[in-house]
Amino acid sequence: MLVHTIKEVREIVKEWKKQGLSVGLVPTMGALHAGHKSLMAKSVEKCDRTVISVFVNPIQFCPGEDLDKYPRTLDADCELAQSAGVDLVFAPSPKEMYGEGHILSNDFLTYVIPPYFYTDKLCGKSRVGHFDGVCTVVNKLFNIVQPDFAFFGEKDAQQLIIIKKMVKDLNIPIEIIGCPIVREESGLALSSRNKYLSEEDKKEALVLSKILFNIKNCYKKGITDVKALKETAFTFLNENHNLEYLDIRDNDTLDEKTVADNNSRVFIALKIKNVRLIDNIMLGS
Ligand code: PAF
Repeated sequence: MLVHTIKEVREIVKEWKKQGLSVGLVPTMGALHAGHKSLMAKSVEKCDRTVISVFVNPIQFCPGEDLDKYPRTLDADCELAQSAGVDLVFAPSPKEMYGEGHILSNDFLTYVIPPYFYTDKLCGKSRVGHFDGVCTVVNKLFNIVQPDFAFFGEKDAQQLIIIKKMVKDLNIPIEIIGCPIVREESGLALSSRNKYLSEEDKKEALVLSKILFNIKNCYKKGITDVKALKETAFTFLNENHNLEYLDIRDNDTLDEKTVADNNSRVFIALKIKNVRLIDNIMLGS
């Protein structure tokens, strides 16, 4: 079922709760792919009822980013959600979420701001304010749906770590479940933004997973010095790759490591032409 208003979601979920059913939420920005499908499948398996939200959240885009051209494919999203066993698709308008006139003005909105320590690095460094927008909308979705469980992909690992921190710090009674990255056979991590890539760009984009897999191999062979691990990346990079960051950090605290261990995650972001891609891998699993 597809609904567009907060009132409708609340009524439906209230009815489920009355029947003692557990509820899972998969927050998305739509343009759903097999990665999202795996999140929905996890929720359907674990919970009696599954809600997905489809909302391209304007306040998490920075000026000059792809808010206007971000793919919007609601009909296809609903079909995919239905085939995954989702019970309810919540697709609000920006006005429904933020009210008229308050959509892009920080002055008229209460924000949830995660700690600077978590947001001044990796994606937060170039996307200033992005995680404030994410935490704010995720809080709103949590308050609207009031799920028991919420499912997020490890593809956006910094986001997942920040959301777990927010839930802990604000005593939000929802269990956050991180789900593994889904990759194409080639190794490319699935992302809605892959739609911006030509077939040729997609080949170039394999550099991200190649660098990550190689670093993990080196770690498994016993190299733990972070500087040495990072240096292995340079054999893969060429003039088509505009590297934004390659970091090895603790998977809970985002502290930068000098010596890698099993709880370290390698994070990479780079641009192919103008498309910014991110990927990551855990060293210890
Ligand atoms: O990961 C995303 O798609 C978005 O950041 C989220 C969590 C749905 C919030 O808009």
